[in-house]
Amino acid sequence: MAPRKIIIDTDPGQDDAVAILLALGSPEDIEVLGITAVAGNVPLSLTAKNARIICELAGRADMRVFAGCDRPLAHTLVTAEHVHGKTGLDGPQMDDPTMPLQDQHAVDFIIETLRAEPVGTVTLCPLGPLTNIATAFQRAPDIIPRVQEIVLMGGAYFEVGNITPAAEFNIYVDPEAAAIVFKAGVPLVVMPLDVTHKALTTRPRVEAFRALGTRPGHMVAEWTDFFERFDMEKYGSQGAPLHDPCVIAYLIEPGLFTGRYINVEIETVSDLTRGMTVADWWRVTSRAPNAMFMGGIDADAFYRLLVSRIGRL
Ligand code: RIB
Ligand code: CA
Repeated sequence: MAPRKIIIDTDPGQDDAVAILLALGSPEDIEVLGITAVAGNVPLSLTAKNARIICELAGRADMRVFAGCDRPLAHTLVTAEHVHGKTGLDGPQMDDPTMPLQDQHAVDFIIETLRAEPVGTVTLCPLGPLTNIATAFQRAPDIIPRVQEIVLMGGAYFEVGNITPAAEFNIYVDPEAAAIVFKAGVPLVVMPLDVTHKALTTRPRVEAFRALGTRPGHMVAEWTDFFERFDMEKYGSQGAPLHDPCVIAYLIEPGLFTGRYINVEIETVSDLTRGMTVADWWRVTSRAPNAMFMGGIDADAFYRLLVSRIGRL
């Protein structure tokens, strides 16, 4: 079967980095048409820089990286340096990238690619706030039915929020954009905190990356060593959730995950619950299902896949 064509929309972020490495280490399953950066964990200038650092680490200085939206549709940008550090990739020392940033705006790349590729052959993989995706849909509604599927990391139900009591960060930063995407009618797979919090970077799992003896393996171990301190202090957990790689792992081995096809809507009105993903898990409303909302993961198999594929780079 031909590899799946995807666009990764991202706000690196250590966990975004692991997701991108997993994708680039899986050419038989995934063809990355381009990487679009969005403001999120850190400002756009840094997410666009970090995306190129990660591509060069993977030996893919040929990858096309595009800068997208530098702020949410309606709110001022909220960033997460408290989790990811000032650079967004804190942990190991890294050199600036030498590969170029594409001149084309990320939103124009998304529109152009979806118009050029055959209908239903491109999957969008947002790993950050949904600003780029929503802007593309607003600017070119004709591309919406051309999207094969959107597989995104965002939201929460049983796990509730990680940036406010009610909301997960990616949705919270740009709830208006999320509402556009969740209402667009594109087949949608959602990796919420409910599943990512079951994929923790325990010590043996981090050491398995270090034991690869490769530079990508070493960097992943260093990034997770840094990234996990926040969640371990906050939740008292044995490691941090590796959120974004769940999106890419789903494309490679969907059977790693379990969930329900339910209605999920986005709170955009109340300041108290801004960005909440109102997931009708128990189907108590008559609202039509619009998302495969994941809740379970085979975490050991997930980490085996990560180590195996990143070990190829
Ligand atoms: O809430 C977790 C999400 O927010 C992840 O995508 C992380 O990288 C940040 O973007
Ligand atoms: Ca992210």
